[in-house]
Amino acid sequence: MRGMFISIEGADGAGKSLQAAKLSQYYKSRNINAVLLREPGATRIGELIRNIILDKNNNEMNPITEILLFAAARAQIVREVIKPSLEAGSVVICERFTDSTYAYQHYARGLDKNMVQTLNEYATGGLYPDLTFFLDIPPEVALSRKKKQASLDRLELEGLLFQQKVYEGYKKISSENNRVITINASREPEEIFLSIIKEITLKEEIQ
Ligand SMILES: Nc1ncnc2c1ncn2[C@@H]1O[C@H](COP(=O)(O)OP(=O)(O)OP(=O)(O)O)[C@@H](O)[C@H]1O
Ligand SMILES: [Mg+2]
Repeated sequence: MRGMFISIEGADGAGKSLQAAKLSQYYKSRNINAVLLREPGATRIGELIRNIILDKNNNEMNPITEILLFAAARAQIVREVIKPSLEAGSVVICERFTDSTYAYQHYARGLDKNMVQTLNEYATGGLYPDLTFFLDIPPEVALSRKKKQASLDRLELEGLLFQQKVYEGYKKISSENNRVITINASREPEEIFLSIIKEITLKEEIQ
């Protein structure tokens, strides 16, 4: 049986890594194979591309270059990790996936929506998550969480206006796709996690 593909989306600092790790632990405690991934990255080539994308020194990067780099990393992770893992029956938990491209490159950077769709189609080969969680939290709150950490990367340094466009984009994506479930992420980590588990259980029941 093919495993479930879950993506976790939201602005920088929304709590994606924390919830993805909790979810992975949850599956492991139930003796279910779970593969925990982040985009861009998770493959050797993908991590090299990630470094180029997030490098603070690359501030002359053109938005088209940026979207093509994201697409390149995605093409690799889908074929090298996600597809084989799902075929082997594992649950795949991916921090960020195709919706990030709509939120950041279309809604925030202003690149054409059809181009985003076409690139996503090529990069994924038509493979999309079964379930996507959008961690909904005002960008200023999410960013203030991040600022407590060490240093910010190139995209996190874009500023609040950019993050607000990303956030509005996510809300639109969530309202337009049944696959995307909005989770109030302004709460305690455990409460957020329980909401996620509740939705997964519902999804498992109807499958
Ligand atoms: N519900 C929460 N309440 C308070 N702090 C939180 C919550 N969830 C995560 N944090 C903290 O906020 C910071 C950002 O969380 P995390 O790294 O999980 O976010 P992220 O969405 O993965 O960020 P990035 O976009 O950089 O990958 C971390 O220091 C984390 O411990
Ligand atoms: Mg993270």
